Amino acid sequence: MNIFSEDILEYKNPIELAQEWLKWQQENCGMNYANSMSISTCDSLGRPSSRIVLLKEITPEGFVFFSNYNSRKGQELAKNPYIAANFYWDANFKQIKIHGIAQKTTRQENVDYWITRPRESQISQFVSQQSQPVDSRATLEKLYKDAEKKLENKNVPCPEHWGGYLIKPYEIEFWIGREYRFHDRYLFSRNEAENWLGQRLFP
Ligand SMILES: Cc1cc2nc3c(=O)[nH]c(=O)nc-3n(C[C@H](O)[C@H](O)[C@H](O)COP(=O)(O)O)c2cc1C
Repeated sequence: MNIFSEDILEYKNPIELAQEWLKWQQENCGMNYANSMSISTCDSLGRPSSRIVLLKEITPEGFVFFSNYNSRKGQELAKNPYIAANFYWDANFKQIKIHGIAQKTTRQENVDYWITRPRESQISQFVSQQSQPVDSRATLEKLYKDAEKKLENKNVPCPEHWGGYLIKPYEIEFWIGREYRFHDRYLFSRNEAENWLGQRLFP
């Protein structure tokens, strides 16, 4: 089966197809972070906000990324779990667009991942009050150094505010760029019975 052709409408599970696309990109597209994706959340007035995060993994349930639960995105998701995510791989002109609902991963999952991370990243995340104002780079460096000293010869504890989100998708669109802007688009939507329906869209 060609994963970049109309064959993909035969895929029963677009989450698995997204996994295939990502794997292909990671092996071939030459990006440092082929797993980077833009995620959009909305504030209480419905005003959207987007930023790049790194996808940690695709599970049978959906798309997992890690962040700070107190960040702007974290606060927005706490009130409105609807989320949009987007991958674009310029090298071979492909896009995946995802609409879903974000739910926090479990504390155990967060800790299990935390302990695999480099100590330097753990300290950065331990001291970061992501999305809050900070007066200078010097303040950041001091917070880092103080924590490094305090935690010397100790494990860096996984902060309660650090953890993952699982995006459970209800729509996934696969976009294949073609000549003359006459692109291919395949939208998979999940119905109430949790089955996926794939259809082609006009470009
Ligand atoms: C390549 C790249 C990867 C990033 N990965 C993450 C990530 O995995 N998690 C994260 O919270 N922020 C990540 N960031 C930083 C976010 O884009 C963003 O600045 C941060 O999460 C704060 O967003 P917020 O204030 O809208 O919540 C990454 C940025 C870039 C450019």
